[in-house]
Amino acid sequence: MSITKICCIGAGYVGGPTMAVIAQKCPDIQVTVVDLNEERIAQWNNPDVEKIPIYEPGLSEIVANTRGKNLFFSTEVDKAIDEAQMIFISVNTPTKTYGSGKGMAADLKYIELCARQIARVAKNDKIVVEKSTLPVRTAEAIKSILDHTGNGVQFQILSNPEFLAEGTAVQDLLNPDRVLIGGDTTPEGEAAIQSLVNIYSNWVSKDKILTTNVWSSELSKLTANAFLAQRVSSINAISELCEKTGADVNEVARAIGMDSRIGPKFLKSSVGFGGSCFQKDILNLVYIAKTFGLREVADYWEQVILMNDHQKRRFANKIVQTLYNTVADKKICFLGWAFKKDTNDTRESAAIYVARDLVSEQANIAVFDPKVEEYQIQSDLDYLNVSERSKKRVTSYENPYDACHSAHAIAVLTEWDEFRDYDWQLIYKNMQKPAFIFDGRNLLDGKKLTEIGFVYKSIGS
Ligand code: NAD
Ligand code: UDX
Repeated sequence: MSITKICCIGAGYVGGPTMAVIAQKCPDIQVTVVDLNEERIAQWNNPDVEKIPIYEPGLSEIVANTRGKNLFFSTEVDKAIDEAQMIFISVNTPTKTYGSGKGMAADLKYIELCARQIARVAKNDKIVVEKSTLPVRTAEAIKSILDHTGNGVQFQILSNPEFLAEGTAVQDLLNPDRVLIGGDTTPEGEAAIQSLVNIYSNWVSKDKILTTNVWSSELSKLTANAFLAQRVSSINAISELCEKTGADVNEVARAIGMDSRIGPKFLKSSVGFGGSCFQKDILNLVYIAKTFGLREVADYWEQVILMNDHQKRRFANKIVQTLYNTVADKKICFLGWAFKKDTNDTRESAAIYVARDLVSEQANIAVFDPKVEEYQIQSDLDYLNVSERSKKRVTSYENPYDACHSAHAIAVLTEWDEFRDYDWQLIYKNMQKPAFIFDGRNLLDGKKLTEIGFVYKSIGS
């Protein structure tokens, strides 16, 4: 089937950029992105494209080129479902916070709501594409809901997990390492797979489009994130050993990364990985393994999370210990709050956990992040149940020099490029002495800062 109308349910970090790129690369396809969140849709429709809700380098230009032509953002979910031949489900699948599997399993209530809505509205045959990251065998549950509509509509379900990373979403979508499409091995399933292959073929070469069965595709997404996060936890485990032995984790990472079997990427030691995906997806994998009674498999992957929790706590402890075992009423400046550079996303950012630990020691925290607003920082602290009193200890600044002014210490939590180019001489002059820097991203030039007079502490050396 040649697809001319697509609908995507969920206008978030995945739905928005993914559909914008499809619209740009497939001018003959009309793409409608829908969401229940009216404010989010209003932001996507803001006439000033710089004010769209998601910051990603290159995204606002693509939206400017396509919006109103073949890319539309709307809250009319039923209408978009009815008109589309292919429906992408791109809603959030957070870790469950209640009931069985609490704190581990993926919460599939939003997915189920989408399936029920599609079942209710659809009047003709549809291809439903799982774009969200889902536990293996979710397609079975979706199919069971869709197959009970009683109105004779035929559905094909495809799994097409998204591998983009935030901060590089547009580049990742334009130039993916691979596109993965899982579907049924029946003739109808294969035809559905082919319709989606045809869409991606507009800009992705055929050898990069992999087709598999649905279960392999669903499980590959969880596995990819688990492997990536495992590399970060592995190098972070070594960083602690480096600090005890005089080895330097940057040198170790370089030395091992040049082994072509290991490779150089994802070996950057840090204050700990964050983001909406890694922790959630590994917990999900652990839960699935437990459900099948695979205790060793579950324990093996859970260790990646435990190591990450340790790395975040260790960073906060190091600040307290270095500042003479007390940070009470001291001003600590956080450079960065987002979970990585080039995004305004703060979900599961290490900064939130480090802030929580430091305010519990009664520190005052001054945050500067180039893209994160104050209300977001306060609501992140709510997420960790930080008390109202402690939350008052965290303030946000519009300007890094004011944030650092009269601070006892600076902690770098996000690797924003601009931090390297600050006037560090001026910052030093205006700080309390001794002036400490805790570089949670090994971003700054430690040698230069030490020459200025700072006490510079990095991760893993
Ligand atoms: P998000 O929270 O940014 O966006 C999800 C959107 O779905 C929200 O705007 C929400 O209002 C909307 N929504 C929820 N239920 C709905 C419903 N029933 N009808 C209409 N809209 C509804 O989430 P995200 O970061 O875009 O992630 C979406 C999925 O993609 C998740 O499964 C995630 O694991 C996966 N994923 C995320 C990334 C990433 O980097 N963020 C990368 C790859 C895969
Ligand atoms: C991740 C996957 O990379 C992506 O393929 C998937 O689709 C979604 O989840 P994302 O969470 O957006 O993407 O960012 P990623 O670049 O993977 O970084 C995750 C976290 O790990 C960040 O906090 C980052 O700072 C940290 N990290 C990454 C390190 O600490 N060291 C590294 O070497 C790499």
